[in-house]
Amino acid sequence: MKKITVAIDGFSSTGKSTLAKQLAKALGYVYVDTGAMYRAVTLFALRNGFVGGEQNNMSALVKLLPKIRLKFKFNQELGYAEIYLNGENVENEIRTLEVSRYVSQVAAIEEVRFKLVDLQKQMGKDKGIVMDGRDIGTVVFPDAELKVFMTASPEVRANRRYKELLEKGDQVNFEEVLQNVKERDYIDSNREFSPLKKAQDAIEFDNGDMGRKEQFERIYNYALRVIEKI
Ligand code: DC
Repeated sequence: MKKITVAIDGFSSTGKSTLAKQLAKALGYVYVDTGAMYRAVTLFALRNGFVGGEQNNMSALVKLLPKIRLKFKFNQELGYAEIYLNGENVENEIRTLEVSRYVSQVAAIEEVRFKLVDLQKQMGKDKGIVMDGRDIGTVVFPDAELKVFMTASPEVRANRRYKELLEKGDQVNFEEVLQNVKERDYIDSNREFSPLKKAQDAIEFDNGDMGRKEQFERIYNYALRVIEKI
């Protein structure tokens, strides 16, 4: 059977990665979470003091970009690939509110995007991939056969994120999470280089009041129809 490329974009906490993971599993495709790549670069920047202090030092970060090695390794038990930063599994460290606080600023840097988009293109060169992010359908794979753009209100998304963080034992309050969601929406949609926007040929999917099962079934059936046609 011929393989396609699936691009899933949208605002933060719209459930992109859950849907993308399920879809990749059902189709037997590789799943790539590009947000994890931007988060891993942000973790590197935080650990080196380039962000998080009095002043950001993005030029120092840009200089060290060649020293950042990112890899995904498939975890059989979890059923998806985890991200490694210079050989270290950082899958948990990249999901903290602290990383979320700075990631949009790091993701707005042209050189960072250039490096990561290049890696993403290489990962998808043989198709058979489901990639989620912000610019997958517009920049990384403008020729993807299936593009999905996911949305939901900031309150719905902040509530999902709040519950996730509480479950992990993080001490957060809802207002702080909501503010972070809104700030990231703003920075991600207004940055100069590849801002978050719906590709013209993407299917828009507001999942504010749609269960995970229904979302998956819709997109999976859609993907099968696309595959049949190519
Ligand atoms: O999907 P996420 O929330 O884990 O993404 C983290 C941040 O990375 C998000 O605020 C925007 C940025 N990002 C991006 O700019 N481009 C991508 N392809 C993926 C994520």
